Amino acid sequence: MNCKKVLIIKGSARKEGYTNRLCDVAEEFLADSEIEIFDAYREKFLTCDGCNYCEKNGRCKNRDLDTFFRSFEQADLIIIASPIYNGTFTAPVKALIDRFQFYYTGFYANGKRQQIEKRRKAVFIASSGRDGIKSFEFMKWQLSCAFSILNIEFTGSVLCSHTDTQPQFSKAVEDLKRRLTDE
Ligand SMILES: Cc1cc2nc3c(=O)[nH]c(=O)nc-3n(C[C@H](O)[C@H](O)[C@H](O)COP(=O)(O)O)c2cc1C
Repeated sequence: MNCKKVLIIKGSARKEGYTNRLCDVAEEFLADSEIEIFDAYREKFLTCDGCNYCEKNGRCKNRDLDTFFRSFEQADLIIIASPIYNGTFTAPVKALIDRFQFYYTGFYANGKRQQIEKRRKAVFIASSGRDGIKSFEFMKWQLSCAFSILNIEFTGSVLCSHTDTQPQFSKAVEDLKRRLTDE
């Protein structure tokens, strides 16, 4: 792995849960990189209210995520990590994805031109109490839709399934390390 800047978006309520433990593995594995962490559960940010300000102004009227967006645009690799809650991302992660809306409106307002100059890569980490497969596929599809207008290449995904009964943590760790080595 030869990444300079890595942004880890943490999306788990449980500090010591499986998703955060996988984030810790990634952090350790990428120790040579410059790592920034955005913990969606612990950061305070506004939700998109669909005001359409971004359609006319090319940016969100709220400036609370400006620092996050700078890191998001400059990272070489983005790791987005979320447990599966009711078949999809946890609420703060979904709220963060909704805040990408100004990139979306900018993309279409500018003849489908990417709003972010730098091409970046992303890896997705999830955890599920049960097998989680359907939800995981759906979440990957949701992310690939978002990534298509965010100039991101979706390079891999890892699921730690069955955490309610027989947590597949060791397998997820191996999968994650393999994904990160492939970068
Ligand atoms: C509100 C809530 C909703 C959940 N919904 C699902 C679900 O739809 N499918 C599933 O497989 N597990 C579900 N789970 C189980 C979590 O995905 C599982 O406990 C996971 O390990 C949580 O991640 P963490 O260990 O990083 O906290 C849910 C848990 C909670 C608290």
